[in-house]
Amino acid sequence: MSRTRTQVAIVGAGPAGLTLGHLLHLEGIDTVILENRSRDYVEARIRAGVLEQGTVDFLTEIGAGERLLSEGLVHHGIELQFDGERHRIPLSDLTGGRSIVIYGQTELVKDLILHRLETGRPLHFEVDDVSVHDLEGDQPTVRYRHEGRDEELVCDVIAGCDGFHGICRPSIPEGVLSEFSREYPFGWLGILAEVAPSSDELVYAHHDRGFALLSLRSPELSRLYIQCRPDEDLAEWTEDRIWDELHARLGLDGWALAEGPILETVVHGMRSYVCEPMRYGRLFLAGDAAHIVPPTGAKGLNLALHDVRVLAEALVDWSRSGSTAGLDAYSETCLRRVWRAEHFSWWMTHMLHRPEGADPFDVRLQLSQLRYVTTSDAAARSLAENYVGLEVV
Ligand code: FAD
Ligand code: DHB
Repeated sequence: MSRTRTQVAIVGAGPAGLTLGHLLHLEGIDTVILENRSRDYVEARIRAGVLEQGTVDFLTEIGAGERLLSEGLVHHGIELQFDGERHRIPLSDLTGGRSIVIYGQTELVKDLILHRLETGRPLHFEVDDVSVHDLEGDQPTVRYRHEGRDEELVCDVIAGCDGFHGICRPSIPEGVLSEFSREYPFGWLGILAEVAPSSDELVYAHHDRGFALLSLRSPELSRLYIQCRPDEDLAEWTEDRIWDELHARLGLDGWALAEGPILETVVHGMRSYVCEPMRYGRLFLAGDAAHIVPPTGAKGLNLALHDVRVLAEALVDWSRSGSTAGLDAYSETCLRRVWRAEHFSWWMTHMLHRPEGADPFDVRLQLSQLRYVTTSDAAARSLAENYVGLEVV
């Protein structure tokens, strides 16, 4: 087994791990990033589309926003549709000019990988059998197999950025973490279609047949979601059935959804999950490894980047001054924003989705809430400031 050393071992090359590597590189801190999938796979994995204003500003500040600024689509409002009508939430008017940017996670991941490769610092794809050890000591290690060799990486700190299904969180001994979770009885069928988006702004639709969302990736690509069962069988969804369902849920008098070739479909389950604290000894969890939100509030990627920003600042302070104050406060600092996003995402999800066999009482409450957020300035402002991202939590 060959043994190497680094300051921070980063497990996972998703948005959290890659951004942490970038931030630490800017401060001259050595990192090794380990990813168990191939580069092609991580660059093609379609997920987030909505970046908060604060996330865009942050990525720009750290020099990772060049393509995001030229190709990302700035949106100043979203539409909520219910009872056969659309109502605009003017995000920017309600938040002192703040906005969101539509930029695919795939594109952000590609940008971050290119930045990493330019630094010449290690980023290993397709590593196997990753495991973390000696988390309580001051020299934790990561073992893995890469290109047929067994490797051991000795470090000062391990950053667990390996997503919800990664190995870092489950390596923490039982009884250390408090876990909070909620499963939802539905999922999202995600669709990427080669057709110009039929609306200039995102449409979140409440409908008797279930929720639907009209989003986009570019002026030529629509991104659509249909509420479905969490274990939905994709084989049951022909192109015709997908379009029929989208027309039924998103359709309005005088407005038609344009159809185009479907490039990809995927089913996502939905859950809320938080573990506390986001740390065990020298292992720090960041992003989806520590918390998950249902996608309705568009918060997961934004939270992941906030975590690593806090973590990088704490690590830099520790390496410069020897102070562990930032690292000791890491979990608490992140969890404040995490819980705000958990609440917002849960609330949006409840307001917009229709569980199978929904109680008519609950449906009346949803419609009342939707009417309230689209008619009361105070309620709309509350939705808007959460959606574009709170500056202070
Ligand atoms: P991940 O992206 O999951 O990255 C973790 C990485 O670790 C992966 O590359 C994985 O392959 C790797 N890994 C796993 N196990 C190991 C191992 N053992 N060894 C090494 N590597 C490992 N968020 C938003 O902010 N806005 C949105 O609009 C939005 N929309 C979404 C829509 C959908 C349909 C979904 C599903 C999610 C959406 N999200 C959104 C959430 C967002 O995609 C996630 O929160 C984000 O990917 C989290 O980034 P991460 O780096 O923490 O984790
Ligand atoms: C997208 C994803 C979301 O979760 C959301 O709330 C809005 C848009 C998207 O993929 O475009």
